[in-house]
Amino acid sequence: MSYDFTKTSPAHEQFWMPFTPQRLFKSNPRMMVSADGMYYTDQDGKKILDGIAGLWCTNAGHNHPKIKEAMKAQIDTLDYAPNFQYGHPTAFEAAKRLTDAMPDPFTHVFFSNSGSEAVDTALKIALGYQRAKGDGQRRVLIGRERGYHGVGFGGISVGGIPYTCAYFGQRLPDIDHIVHTWDLEHNAFSKGEPEWGAHLADDLLNTIYLNDPSNIAAVIIEPVAGSTGILPPPKGYLKRIREICDEYGILLIFDEVVTAFGRMGEMSSTTYFDVMPDIIVSAKGLTNGAVPMGATFVTSDIYDTFMNGPREIIELMHGYTYSGHPLACAAAIGTLDAFEEDNILENARKMMPIFEEAVHSLKDKPYVMDIRNCGMIAGVQLENYSDDDPMLRTRTASYELFNRGAVIRYSGPTMQLSPSLTINEKEIDQLVTMLGDVLDDIGSGKVAGVLA
Ligand SMILES: Cc1ncc(COP(=O)(O)O)c(C=O)c1O
Repeated sequence: MSYDFTKTSPAHEQFWMPFTPQRLFKSNPRMMVSADGMYYTDQDGKKILDGIAGLWCTNAGHNHPKIKEAMKAQIDTLDYAPNFQYGHPTAFEAAKRLTDAMPDPFTHVFFSNSGSEAVDTALKIALGYQRAKGDGQRRVLIGRERGYHGVGFGGISVGGIPYTCAYFGQRLPDIDHIVHTWDLEHNAFSKGEPEWGAHLADDLLNTIYLNDPSNIAAVIIEPVAGSTGILPPPKGYLKRIREICDEYGILLIFDEVVTAFGRMGEMSSTTYFDVMPDIIVSAKGLTNGAVPMGATFVTSDIYDTFMNGPREIIELMHGYTYSGHPLACAAAIGTLDAFEEDNILENARKMMPIFEEAVHSLKDKPYVMDIRNCGMIAGVQLENYSDDDPMLRTRTASYELFNRGAVIRYSGPTMQLSPSLTINEKEIDQLVTMLGDVLDDIGSGKVAGVLA
């Protein structure tokens, strides 16, 4: 490769990076040049422990041979064929394998290329379903504060992060939100699902009544809010949300872009939480991050509701050029094979309690004000540094960890850990010890803040 990796290279300039402070990054690039298993290799040849599975996606570990093999075989056979009114076998095989892997109610799957597209697909299916049933007045979509549903206009509208909308001054009409479930006073340092907070689901009743129940099409939530800081649902909360949706004929969408494909030790967190929505949104772990793909799973009731009218008419006016791309479908099949072959779910289930104990051991480290975990995800929340630069500490910890050989993610005041599900006890210990040491060194002033 002819790319100049020296830190001051002007070659860094052209790439407008996603969700990245361009000038900070380009003054001190953190580049990964290869990856295998639990580790990246950076531009200096240093091994970096990946504590966040890429971006919550390489659940089976980087560079998995089964997935590579499936993709290579596919690219040698068929690089591309449209799925608009033609088809190719790998898409049908992937749909069958994936719906078999998901819980029983999910019989059909619509493919896209990202979590954001899979979310928008789910929202459109929900609105289209209500219309197909003769309930076209049901147009209101309800999300939750601190929800993240990607960056499409649908996703930022139902999402509950103010600045993702405020930046653009626009969002969709007919959207409302319910309150989030984070509560430091009652739930700080809960292990797994907090005991307190099921009653917060009743906020959905307020929102429903404010908008008139007959106007509501769907509710979308992440079973465990990921990007805004790891917020596991209080015990009983998701069941109550399901009950309320059932009572008022409202569709329930779970955005499982993070929680599906093993994060909770199950293919879908719906099994873990024992609550079935009507639609599941997934991406990321679906192809183990090897190639972009989103998948929106629906029940037969939803699919069948669309299957009326003349046979020659398109039932759902929606699709992407790359919906069910051969390479992505091959990667999804390879991922399912890897899960089976390597007993990935079993390892995740085995590691979950070990991971929980390890992250909670950070409780007394400097500035730690809350630790939250569920399945193989954890968040360590630090006290804000100042109103002007609340993230100074999490940003500094992330940069310092990279210097010492580990990657984790920070979002706002929370350090997020979500390693590949192939991780072992030793690697969990290594990751958490490194984070603890960095926090100690920030606390003692040994490590200086990384200024934006
Ligand atoms: C819950 C959730 N939904 C949707 C998305 C968007 O996925 P993508 O970045 O693939 O568009 C993400 C990404 O982190 C996510 O965490």
